[in-house]
Amino acid sequence: PKITYILPDGLETVLDAEPGTSVMRTAVSNGVPGIVAECGGSAMCATCHVYVETEEPEALPAVSDVEDEMLDCTASERCANSRLSCQLQVLEDITVRLPETQI
Ligand code: FES
Repeated sequence: PKITYILPDGLETVLDAEPGTSVMRTAVSNGVPGIVAECGGSAMCATCHVYVETEEPEALPAVSDVEDEMLDCTASERCANSRLSCQLQVLEDITVRLPETQI
């Protein structure tokens, strides 16, 4: 599947993801700026915050209680489409927008 990352300056980066890897992991291993991922993917840091721009977010894994709590700690404003990218396993094409800041 393809992941489209929209950077805060509007530039887009499109990457091919291994099925089942996370939106966070794919960004970090390909050097996409803007995802800090301090905790390494354990839903404990909220520095991998993204806004999901995909039309049908119901295809995404549900927000767990832990993710929901961490989303209240994001540096940029939490919106209805906010997610922790380490909790987004990619099975279908997805587009995410990166927040202005993670820390
Ligand atoms: Fe820390 Fe996602 S990498 S919450």
